[in-house]
Amino acid sequence: MAKTYNPSMKTTLPGEKAAKILERRHHIIPDGVGYGVPAFARQAKGALIEDVDGNWFIDFAGAIGTINVGHSHPTIVEAIKRQADNFVHTGFNVMMYESYIEIAERLCQLAPGTHPKKAMFLNSGAEAVENAVKVARKYTKRPAVVTFSRGFHGRTLMTMSMTAKVKPYKYEFGPFAPEVYRAPYPYGYRKPDSLSEQEYNEETLKNVKHMIEQEISPDRVAAVVIEPVQGEGGFIVPDKDFVQGVQAFCEQHGILFVADEIQTGFARTGDYFSINHFDVVPDLITVSKSMGGGVPISGLIGRAEVMDAADPGELGGTYSGSPLGCAAALAVLDVIEEEKLNERAQTIGNRVLSRFNDWKGRYDCIGDVRGLGAMCALELVSDRDEKTPDKVLTGRVLQEAQKRGLIILAAGVYGNVIRVLMPIVVTDEELEEGLNILEDAINAASSQVN
Ligand SMILES: Cc1ncc(COP(=O)(O)O)c(C=O)c1O
Repeated sequence: MAKTYNPSMKTTLPGEKAAKILERRHHIIPDGVGYGVPAFARQAKGALIEDVDGNWFIDFAGAIGTINVGHSHPTIVEAIKRQADNFVHTGFNVMMYESYIEIAERLCQLAPGTHPKKAMFLNSGAEAVENAVKVARKYTKRPAVVTFSRGFHGRTLMTMSMTAKVKPYKYEFGPFAPEVYRAPYPYGYRKPDSLSEQEYNEETLKNVKHMIEQEISPDRVAAVVIEPVQGEGGFIVPDKDFVQGVQAFCEQHGILFVADEIQTGFARTGDYFSINHFDVVPDLITVSKSMGGGVPISGLIGRAEVMDAADPGELGGTYSGSPLGCAAALAVLDVIEEEKLNERAQTIGNRVLSRFNDWKGRYDCIGDVRGLGAMCALELVSDRDEKTPDKVLTGRVLQEAQKRGLIILAAGVYGNVIRVLMPIVVTDEELEEGLNILEDAINAASSQVN
């Protein structure tokens, strides 16, 4: 399958074959399991996906940030095949395998900080966050966990409790896990006009500290869990001083600083770990998504003495850090290094932000443009002065993009942010074409009468 992209939507969506499968889906799959595109994949390569009706899409969603190295990268496919030929699963808690050790060694080497580190592996992002909390509580002997407004950490009971946004993540799914507290996180675009950026960041940091001091007491807090750049929350890049201030406060009070790098890691922001942009060394780091290049795997990396707090048998899981996941993750690290994907992410990000800023000058509906590396977003508003979130327009843009063969996602607590998570192996031609389609979609959606 060698294909250079030229727009080739052969059908409206869903196509004839997809419509039939969709009908079956509605009978047998609960509606609560959502989907973005009314189509079913046939094959995918690099930044392109073909559906069962022969429509080719440019993929700016990358399975929600999972496919940084591209769909079915040959190095990764080869690694998975080789592993499957040898053995598929033995269960690391039963009969171990060397690849688990090797991926731990490589990630501990790459992770920020020169202190001794250890790593363990799991299946999903949520499971990595769950284990960060377990380990942090065990080490500190403290119960409380602090997360942030607009934060997203998963859909299991603990991580749903840590996640901020009520709809669709929490609504009527409570009661939630206790001892989870929420601190404010800066949102530069929506800061009060009366404050300068610096004042706003200082004020937000002050409020984080006050909340912990007045509502919990620092000596009861095991961990502060933070996304260095908020993902589901709307691709919000915090101020460096803010992140450093939070870390310093944690250090002062023996609270573990946990960076949730599940969406930001593995070259997305131009680094293996986005926290490096903030010159902060976390005590624990959670990783997943693009770590496995599409094979489910997640990890927890951290200070050796913290990671060693749990006794034998207290951590693990049947499929945790599976051989296929470890083989894929090792191949992902090779690809990032060999194809210089950290550098490429920066180039892509510069190109995307330059187009977005150009559009901001021409489309009133674009209130804000922001990003770090190739983690870029547009925030859509119905009134620029009031910054009124425009979720309806955002939905229309996504639909217009899909019709034209571009898969792209929304984010943000108001559902009005368009985010790009394209594979970082996207070619220049595909990138330009994808951006052209997005501009057409914004044009078409914003000229529709309400
Ligand atoms: C920052 C962050 N943490 C945790 C998760 C949960 O990961 P998973 O869906 O693999 O459980 C996500 C998923 O989007 C995420 O973006």
